[in-house]
Amino acid sequence: MKRGYVFLVSLVIVAMVFMYTDLASVSLIAQAPKSEAPKSEATKPETFPATMQTEGYVGREVCRECHVENHTLHSDHGHAHTFALASEDKIASKFVGREYDYGKPFGRYRYFQDESGVNVRLPEEDDAEFPLQYALGSGHNAITLLSLAKDAEHGTVAYEHRGSWFRDGDRIGRTPGQPLVAPESELERFGMKHVNNVMQKCIYCHTTTGTVVDQQIVGLTANVNCEKCHGPGAEHVRQARAMKEPPPFSVGADIWDSESEIQLCGDCHRLPEAITLKELREYPRKLARFQPVGLLRSKCFLESDGALRCTTCHNPHKTISAVKESEHVANCIQCHRVKSETHVSCPISPSDGCIKCHMPKYDFKSLGTGFHDHWIRVHPED
Ligand code: HEC
Ligand code: HEC
Ligand code: HEC
Ligand code: HEC
Ligand code: HEC
Ligand code: HEC
Ligand code: HEC
Repeated sequence: MKRGYVFLVSLVIVAMVFMYTDLASVSLIAQAPKSEAPKSEATKPETFPATMQTEGYVGREVCRECHVENHTLHSDHGHAHTFALASEDKIASKFVGREYDYGKPFGRYRYFQDESGVNVRLPEEDDAEFPLQYALGSGHNAITLLSLAKDAEHGTVAYEHRGSWFRDGDRIGRTPGQPLVAPESELERFGMKHVNNVMQKCIYCHTTTGTVVDQQIVGLTANVNCEKCHGPGAEHVRQARAMKEPPPFSVGADIWDSESEIQLCGDCHRLPEAITLKELREYPRKLARFQPVGLLRSKCFLESDGALRCTTCHNPHKTISAVKESEHVANCIQCHRVKSETHVSCPISPSDGCIKCHMPKYDFKSLGTGFHDHWIRVHPED
C-alpha cells in the first residue's frame, strides 16, 4: 500500500511538471532544454499558436550534404512520410476507383479523381461530392484524409474524412475515434468536423511547418523532418559551411537533457497532460499508445536519475521496423546486467525475451496496429 502511495505521489509530481510547460513555444522546442525556460513562460496558453514559423528553415535535403547517414535512416522512418497531398499517386492509388459502405446514416462512398484532384461522392444519396485534400499517416499502418473548408462561425475548419485506408487487408474502413452520431450538416456526411486547436494540432503533429490560411496550408513543409526536432537550421548550416567545428546546435548537443527530450517526443506521442487524471490513475491498456506516459511511471525512468530517455532505446532517425529484437534486449542489458553492482537483473530470464514479458504489445484493432506498453514492469499475468 505504502509503496503504491509513494509511487503515485512521484507520478503526480512528474505529471505536474509537464502540465505547466509552455505549448506556445513549441516552434522553438529544440533550441534549448525546456527546463531552462524562464519561470514567467511556464503558464499553459489557452490556444495553440495559429502560425508556425517558417523563417530560417532550409529543408532536409540541405542537411544531407553533411549528415548523409541520418538523412538516409530518416528517409525510411514513418516521420518522413506522414503527410501528403491526397492527389499524390501513393495516396490516390489507395482510394480512387474504390467504394466504401459506411452504413447508415452516411451511405456508400465512391472515390474518384479528376483535374481538381481526389474526390468522394455519395452516389446512392443525392450524389453530393466532396474534395479530399490532405493525407495523414505514412500508411505503415493507416492513412486518413483531411480537407479544409469554409465555415460561417470559425472561418476555416477541417473535415476528417470518415473512411481511412488500412494496410492490414489493403482496405478502406472506419476512421478511428469518430463517434457514430448523425451528421449535423451537409459536409459532416463526409467527415468529422475539427475546429481551432484540434485542427491546428492535427496538422502540427504531422508536419514541419505550415499555417492554415483560407482553407489552405501556407508555407507547408510536410512530415516530421529534421528541423521539426532540431529547429530551423539556416544558421547552423551557415556556420558549418564557414568552419570545421561549428558551435553546438540543438538536440544532440551536450546541453540536451533527458527531460527536454521526453518533452520533445511527448509533444506528439503524448505527455500526461494529454490524458485525463482518471486514466492516469487507472492506466487502462489503451494508454499503451502514449509511450511517454508509460515510460514516466516506470522504475527504469524514476530510479535512474535522468539516465533513461527515449533515445536510450531509440535512434530517433531509424524506423522501429528496422530494429532487431536482439538490439532491444541489448538496450535493457546495458543496465540490467547479471552481477551488476548498480542494477538488479532478471531472475527469470537474464539475457533474452525482455520485451514480450515486460513491455508487451497490445493490439489496437480499430487503428490497425499495436503498441508496446512503455510502463516497464513485472506484469501480474507473467
Ligand atoms: C512533430 C510530432 C512528432 C515528434 C516531435 C516525434 N514524433 Fe514520432 N511520430 C510522429 C508521427 C505523426 C508518427 C506516425 C508516423 C507514420 O505516419 O507512420 C510517429 C511515429 C513514430 C514511430 C513509429 C514509426 C517508425 O517508422 O518507427 C517511432 C518509433 C517514433 N515516432 C519515435 C519518436 C521519438 C523517439 C521521438 C523523439 C525523439 C519522436 N518520435 C518525436 C510524430 C512525432
Ligand atoms: C499530438 C500530436 C498528434 C495529433 C494532434 C494528431 N496526430 Fe496523428 N499521429 C501522431 C503520432 C505520434 C502517431 C503515431 C503513433 C500513434 O498512432 O499514436 C500518429 C499516427 C497517425 C496515423 C497512423 C499512421 C500510421 O500509418 O501508423 C494517422 C492516419 C493519423 N495519425 C492521423 C491523424 C489525424 C487525421 C489527426 C487530426 C484529426 C491526427 N492524426 C492528429 C500524432 C498526432
Ligand atoms: C523525431 C525527432 C528528430 C528528427 C525528425 C531528426 N532528429 Fe536528429 N536527433 C534527434 C535527437 C533526439 C537527437 C539526439 C540523439 C541522442 O542524444 O542520442 C538527434 C541527434 C542528431 C545528430 C547528432 C548525433 C548523430 O546522430 O550524429 C545529428 C547530426 C542529427 N540528429 C541530424 C538529423 C538530420 C540530418 C535529420 C533529418 C534527416 C534529423 N536529425 C532528424 C531527433 C531528431
Ligand atoms: C555544411 C555541413 C553541414 C550541414 C549542411 C549541416 N550540418 Fe549539422 N553539423 C555539421 C558539423 C560539422 C557538426 C559538428 C560535428 C558533428 O557532430 O558531426 C554538425 C552537428 C550537428 C548536430 C549535432 C549537435 C552538435 O552541435 O554537435 C546536429 C543535431 C546537426 N548538426 C543537425 C543538422 C541539421 C538538422 C541540418 C540541416 C538543417 C544540418 N545539421 C546541416 C555540419 C553540417
Ligand atoms: C538506464 C538504465 C535502465 C535501462 C536501459 C532499463 N532499465 Fe529497467 N530499471 C532500471 C532501474 C534503475 C530500475 C529499478 C531497479 C534497479 O535499481 O535496477 C529498473 C527496474 C526494472 C524492472 C522492475 C520494475 C518494477 O516495477 O519492479 C523491470 C521489470 C525492468 N527494469 C525491465 C527493463 C527492461 C525490460 C528494459 C529494456 C526494455 C529496461 N528495464 C531498461 C534502469 C533501467
Ligand atoms: C527501455 C527502452 C525504451 C525506451 C526508454 C523507450 N522505448 Fe519506445 N519502444 C521500445 C521497444 C522495445 C519497442 C517495441 C519495438 C518493436 O518490437 O516493435 C518500442 C516501440 C516504440 C514505438 C512504436 C509503437 C509501439 O509502441 O510499439 C514508439 C512510437 C516509441 N517506442 C516511442 C517512444 C518514446 C516517445 C519514448 C520516450 C518517451 C520511448 N519510446 C522510450 C523500447 C523503449
Ligand atoms: C518469461 C517472462 C520474462 C522474461 C523473458 C524476462 N523477464 Fe524479467 N521478470 C519476469 C518476472 C515474472 C519477474 C518477477 C520475478 C520475481 O519477482 O520473482 C521479472 C523480474 C525482472 C526484474 C526485477 C528484478 C528484481 O530483483 O526486482 C528485472 C530488472 C527484469 N525482470 C528485467 C528483465 C530483462 C532485462 C529481461 C531480458 C534480458 C527480462 N527481464 C526477461 C519475467 C520475465
